[in-house]
Amino acid sequence: MLDRLEQQPPDALLALIKLYDADPRPDKIDLGVGVYRTSEGATPVFGCIKAAEAMLVAEQDSKAYLGPEGDMGFVHALMPHIFGGEDPSQGGRIEGMQTPGGTGAVRLAVALAQRAGVGKVLMGTPSWPNHAQIFGDLGIEMVGFGHAAADGTANMDELRKALRNAGTGDAVLLHGCCHNPTGIDYTNEQWDEIADLLVETGVLPIIDLAYQGLGRGMEEDAYGMRKVLASVPEALVAYSCDKNFGLYRDRVGAVYAMTPDAAQTTAVMSNGHALARANWSMPPDHGAAAVRLALSDDATVKQWLDELDSMRARILQVREKLAASSNAGGVNLAPLGEQNGMFAMLPLSKEQIQKLRDDHGVYMAGSGRINVAGLTMDNIDKFVGALAAVSG
Ligand code: LMR
Repeated sequence: MLDRLEQQPPDALLALIKLYDADPRPDKIDLGVGVYRTSEGATPVFGCIKAAEAMLVAEQDSKAYLGPEGDMGFVHALMPHIFGGEDPSQGGRIEGMQTPGGTGAVRLAVALAQRAGVGKVLMGTPSWPNHAQIFGDLGIEMVGFGHAAADGTANMDELRKALRNAGTGDAVLLHGCCHNPTGIDYTNEQWDEIADLLVETGVLPIIDLAYQGLGRGMEEDAYGMRKVLASVPEALVAYSCDKNFGLYRDRVGAVYAMTPDAAQTTAVMSNGHALARANWSMPPDHGAAAVRLALSDDATVKQWLDELDSMRARILQVREKLAASSNAGGVNLAPLGEQNGMFAMLPLSKEQIQKLRDDHGVYMAGSGRINVAGLTMDNIDKFVGALAAVSG
């Protein structure tokens, strides 16, 4: 039987990690997979996580199973930061469970929607390529609509049309902030309209919030998600700590459900537990336990928020410098100054992207997505020059 399985290509984005590592050129530039880098090009463990890991080693007295829901102390410690307000659980209307990374959270959110009878998910394209892979693997239909308008802002006409052509029984996947791959987020006014449209159409929102704190700020980046949750009766939120706690390989995420009442939310989560049990049984503990401990102490919370502030400031500094370069050959970099988060899409052909890699040691996704956090004040000029050379 197994000879029926044909060789599959490696995931294109993850394959870039190995290609980059194998390149001996000392001035190569990695703008591929979405990890934050310092101005020295490093991806260090957060100070707040180092401190929390030391606490964890000192106080953890067992590694016995926790259950499919994972570390609920972690799930609840995140909630004030995600949902805000006096009562982040809204009287138990919002509850969550731990997942293996943001991917596990998206997977579980979509599987829960499917279990509830959703047959179709609307999504702005381009999107993170793994979204479509998850839909395909679950066998749920995806209906794409254009996310970006020609002027580099979000295409509200397409979104309006997609939502009005859908209704109860359909879901829409929205990026909460730092849109991956375009960096083009909805403005607060657009989120207000989206919330109204969701109420009008009855489409179930699934919000993927994977970069909170890396766009405009912890509160600012949560605006759209919070606005939607304040407006609609039910929603799913997929959350990732991979980027905003720098825990990538530890796989730390959570999925949250909101329904009209606490008993219904409990029932939804019991379905989440059953799905988790059949998929991965239980999420890995270490990273989530470290986040729980980091969030349990005012000093490490402050350290975390300070670390996020400096990451965000660096990303904005790179964006501003890129935007100031204006035109690099045929590529207009000015819109990058208005966008959010680690990613931006450059209008490059496959040949130009290959040439950047072969001739200049610049690695980016085949879609033309760059991770702006891969740039530093020292290599931006080389990057802009390379861009001009291949696109001029
Ligand atoms: C990315 O888009 O580069 C990240 O989200 C990493 C991943 O898992 O694809």
